[in-house]
Amino acid sequence: MVILFITNLLLLFSQISTATDTITQLQSLPDDGSTLVSSDGSFELGFFSPGSSTNRYIGIWYKNIPDRFVVWVANRDHPIKHNSSKLSINKEGNLILLSKNGTVHWSINSSTKALSPIVKLLDTGNLVLREEKDDSNNEDSFLWQSFDYPCDTLLPGMKLGWNLKTGLNRRLTAWKNWEDPSPGNFTWSAVITGDPEMVLWNGSAKFHRSGPWNGVGFSGAPLWKGTPLTEHNMVNNADEVYYTYKCVNKSVMSITYINQTLYLRKRIAWIPENNTWKLYQYVPRDSCDTYNPCGPHGNCIVNESPICQCLEGFEPKSQQNWDIMDWAQGCVRSKPWMCRVKDKDGFIKSAGMKLPDTKYSWADRSMTLEDCKAKCLENCSCTAYANLDVRGAGSGCVIWFGDLLDLRLSDRGQDLYVRMAASETDAKEGHSKKKVVILVPLFLILVIALTLTYIYWRKRKLGGKTSDENKEERQEDLELPLFDFATITCATNDFSSDKRLGQGGFGLVYKGTLANGQEIAVKRLSHNSGQGTKEFKNEVILCAKLQHRNLVKVLGCCIHGVEKLLIYEYMPNRSLDAFLFDSSQSELLDWSKRFNIIYGIARGLLYLHHDSRLRIIHRDLKASNILLDSELNPKISDFGMARMFVGNETEGNTKIVAGTYGYMAPEYAIHGLFSIKSDVFSFGVLLLEIVSGKKTRGVFYADQGYNILGYAWRLWKEDTPMKLIDPCLGDTITLSDVLRCIHIGLLCVQLHPEDRPNMTSVILMLSSENTLPQPKKPGFLIEMESIVGESSSGKHISSSTNEITVTILEAR
Ligand SMILES: *[C@@H]1O[C@H](CO)[C@@H](O)[C@H](O)[C@H]1NC(C)=O
Ligand SMILES: *[C@@H]1O[C@H](CO)[C@@H](O)[C@H](O)[C@H]1NC(C)=O
Ligand SMILES: *[C@@H]1O[C@H](CO)[C@@H](O)[C@H](O)[C@H]1NC(C)=O
Ligand SMILES: *[C@@H]1O[C@H](CO)[C@@H](O)[C@H](O)[C@H]1NC(C)=O
Ligand SMILES: *[C@@H]1O[C@H](CO)[C@@H](O)[C@H](O)[C@H]1NC(C)=O
Ligand SMILES: *[C@@H]1O[C@H](CO)[C@@H](O)[C@H](O)[C@H]1NC(C)=O
Ligand SMILES: *[C@@H]1O[C@H](CO)[C@@H](O)[C@H](O)[C@H]1NC(C)=O
Ligand SMILES: *[C@@H]1O[C@H](CO)[C@@H](O)[C@H](O)[C@H]1NC(C)=O
Ligand SMILES: *[C@@H]1O[C@H](CO)[C@@H](O)[C@H](O)[C@H]1NC(C)=O
Repeated sequence: MVILFITNLLLLFSQISTATDTITQLQSLPDDGSTLVSSDGSFELGFFSPGSSTNRYIGIWYKNIPDRFVVWVANRDHPIKHNSSKLSINKEGNLILLSKNGTVHWSINSSTKALSPIVKLLDTGNLVLREEKDDSNNEDSFLWQSFDYPCDTLLPGMKLGWNLKTGLNRRLTAWKNWEDPSPGNFTWSAVITGDPEMVLWNGSAKFHRSGPWNGVGFSGAPLWKGTPLTEHNMVNNADEVYYTYKCVNKSVMSITYINQTLYLRKRIAWIPENNTWKLYQYVPRDSCDTYNPCGPHGNCIVNESPICQCLEGFEPKSQQNWDIMDWAQGCVRSKPWMCRVKDKDGFIKSAGMKLPDTKYSWADRSMTLEDCKAKCLENCSCTAYANLDVRGAGSGCVIWFGDLLDLRLSDRGQDLYVRMAASETDAKEGHSKKKVVILVPLFLILVIALTLTYIYWRKRKLGGKTSDENKEERQEDLELPLFDFATITCATNDFSSDKRLGQGGFGLVYKGTLANGQEIAVKRLSHNSGQGTKEFKNEVILCAKLQHRNLVKVLGCCIHGVEKLLIYEYMPNRSLDAFLFDSSQSELLDWSKRFNIIYGIARGLLYLHHDSRLRIIHRDLKASNILLDSELNPKISDFGMARMFVGNETEGNTKIVAGTYGYMAPEYAIHGLFSIKSDVFSFGVLLLEIVSGKKTRGVFYADQGYNILGYAWRLWKEDTPMKLIDPCLGDTITLSDVLRCIHIGLLCVQLHPEDRPNMTSVILMLSSENTLPQPKKPGFLIEMESIVGESSSGKHISSSTNEITVTILEAR
C-alpha cells in the first residue's frame, strides 16, 4: 500500500516536472525521448520508430495503453533517417520539423499567421495550432488541426468527409504495412454525388460501400443489437458533409481504423481489466460486403446458395455465366419498360435493401414518396426511387439513373422501388386482368416476331465472322494464350534435366525462359488425365480466370498430341517447404513473415472455396504447393488440378483419391469423401507445420508413434503448446499470437468435418482476438500408413518419401 502510494507520488512529480502539452516558439520538442502529454493524460505525442524500422516519425498515441497504438503520424511521407531532429515553431508561425543541419523536413501550412502561436495536444487527441491567448478550444479558432489531416485512425469527434466551403476532403489512408506509415492504397472517404455515402477504396476501385445514411444509420451497415458503445452521425448540409461518432461513455476508448494487410476496417475498444483491445466490428464482414459482387441488378443474399439472385422482374444477362457463378454481368429486365406511355411502366418494391451505389443519383430532403415516384416517372433514365430518411413514416426522395449497382439484403435495409414494365408490376399486384387479356396475344405475336428476327439475324451474323459471340470467343482465347510446343521446348531447353524445378503431384515442373526474357514455370502433365483436349482446355481457361494475389497465376497452356503443358508465372523463391524445413533458410522466416504466409494461404483458400466463381476444392494443399514470391508472399499452386484429373465434382465422393499422406483428412483418405472441410484439415496441418517448422511426418515425434497432429494434441492436453513453436523463431514472436495460431490449427484438424471451421471463420479467428472454442481430438494422431496403407491395393504409392502426391483408386 505504502509502496504503491510512493510510486504514485513519484509518478505525479515526474509528470509535473516533465510533461507539457504545448510547444511554443521558445520551447521545441527534440528527439530525445521527450513527449507532449495532453492535459488529462490520455494522449501522448513524440518521436517513434514503427516495427523494426529505424526511421523516425512524429506520432500521437494513447498514453495509458501499454501496446503503443499510433493514431496519427505527422511526417508519414517524410521519414527522418537520424534521431537528432526537433519539432518547433518557426518565425512564420508554422509547426516545422527541423533536421540537425537546419533544413526543414516537414511543415504544416496555415493560411493565417498567428501573433503568438502555440501548438497544443488536446485531450481529444487533436494537435492544434492556435493563438496562445485564445483558449476557447473552439474549432473555428484553430489555425490548423491534425484532425483535418487524418491517417489511418478515426478518433471519436473526428470528421470524415468534406468541408464544402474550403474544399477540404478528410479521408483515412491505411499504412503501407505495419512498419511503414506512408499512405497505402486502402482508403476510406465520403462520396458526395447525389445521396452521400462512405466508401472504402482499393486504389481507385470501390471496395465496400456503406450505403447512404437513412437518418438512423447506413443502409448497408449491420444492426447492432447490444448496448451501443458509440453514437454515429452523418452531417449533410450546405457547408459540410461528414461522418462522425462519439463514445457513449467518455471513459470507454473505442476507435475505428483501416488495415491494408487485411483489407479490413475495424472498430475496436480497449478493455482495461483484460489489458487488451477487443474487436467490435469489421468490414467487409461477408461475401456480400465487397463491392458489387452480383453485378448490376443482382441482389446479394448472404444466406442463399448461391448468394447472388436477380431482383424480381430481372433475369441473368448471360445464363451460362450465371450458372457457373460468374455474376459480373449481372441481370437485365425480363421485359423493357416504355417511358412516358401511360400505364406502360410501374415499380416493384424490394424490401430490406441496402440502397444501390449513389454515384448516379439525385436527392431531395423535402419530397414525399408520392412526389418521388412522379419525379422518377417523368425522367426516362430514372430506374428506381426510395425514401431518403426512414424515420417515422419516411421522408425525402432519392432517385437513381442507369444500372443499379451493389445491392444486397441488409438488416438495416429499406424499401427500394425498381422501375419495371407495367405487365410485370400488374402480374405482381394481381389487378388489371382485362389489360392482361388484351396484352397476352399481343405479347405472343411480339415474341414470335422477335424470335424470328433473332434467328434470321444470328444466321446472317454467324456467316460473316463479326458476331458478338465470335468476338467473345476470340477474346476468351486471347485471355489464355495457347503456347506453341516449339516455343516451350526452346524455353526449357528441350525439358533438360538441369531446368527441372521439381516434381509436382501431376507431373514434372521445369523452369523456362521465353525469347523475350520472361521467366516461366512449365508443368508437363503426366499422360493419365482422363480428359479430352477440349475439356482440358476449358479447365485451364477456368483456372486462368481465377485471379487472386495468393494464387499462382496461370499464364497459358500448350497442347501437342498427348503432351499437355501448363504455363505458370515463375516464383524465384520456390516453395514454402524449401524454407521451412531447411535449418539455414528457416531463420529467414520470422514470425511476422510466417503469419503473413498463414494469412495469405487462408485468403487464397477462402477465394477458392467461397469467393471464386467456381468453388474449387484443392485436395492437395501442402507446403510444397505453396510458392513464395520475391517478397515471400505465399501463392497457392496446383489448384484446379484435381478437377482436371478427377472430373468436375465439387463436393462428394470420389473413387480416386488425390492427396498427400499427412495432409489428407481422414474421411477423404479412408472413404474418398471430400469437401471444403477436407481442405480445411490440410490447412490446419500446414499451419502447425509453419508454426513448428517441422514436417507433418517428421522423425522428431515418429519414434513416439505420433505425427505432428498427435504431438501437437499431446502438448495441448498437457497445457504446454509452446513447446511446439519453432525454436529458431526466437524472440520475434508474440506468444499470444502464436498460441492462437496453434489453437486455430487444432480446430482445423478435428476428426469430424462438421466440427472444423470454414475458411471464413478461420480468417476471422486469425484477424480478431475473440475467444476460440476448445478443439476436439484431431483425426490421425498416429502415422497413417497403418490405417490406409494396407487397405488400398494396386496403387502407385511411394511411401518412402513424404512429399509425393498419391493417387489411390479406392478399393470398394
Ligand atoms: C541516436 O542514434 C544513435 C545511433 O544511430 C544511437 O547511438 C543513440 O543512442 C540514439 N540516441 C537517442 C537519444 O535515441
Ligand atoms: C541536410 O541533410 C539532409 C539529409 O539529412 C540533406 O538532404 C540536405 O541537403 C542537408 N542540407 C544542408 C543545407 O546541408
Ligand atoms: C504549403 O503551401 C504551399 C503554397 O500554397 C505549397 O506549395 C506547399 O506544397 C504546401 N505544403 C504542404 C506541406 O502542404
Ligand atoms: C494489420 O494487421 C496485421 C495482422 O493483424 C498486423 O500484423 C499489422 O500490424 C496491422 N498493420 C497496421 C499498420 O497496424
Ligand atoms: C498500390 O497501387 C500501386 C499503383 O497502383 C501498385 O503499384 C501497388 O502494388 C499497390 N500496392 C498494394 C499493396 O496493393
Ligand atoms: C486491390 O486492387 C489490386 C489491383 O489494383 C488487386 O490486385 C488486389 O487484389 C486488390 N485487393 C483486394 C483485397 O481486393
Ligand atoms: C462508464 O464506464 C465506466 C468504466 O467502465 C463505468 O465505471 C461508468 O459507470 C460508466 N459510466 C456510465 C455513465 O455508464
Ligand atoms: C476478460 O477476459 C476474461 C477471461 O478471458 C473473460 O471472461 C471476460 O469476458 C473478458 N472481459 C471482457 C470485458 O471482455
Ligand atoms: C433526367 O435525369 C438526368 C440525370 O439527372 C438528367 O441529365 C436529364 O436531364 C433528366 N431528363 C429529364 C427529361 O428531366
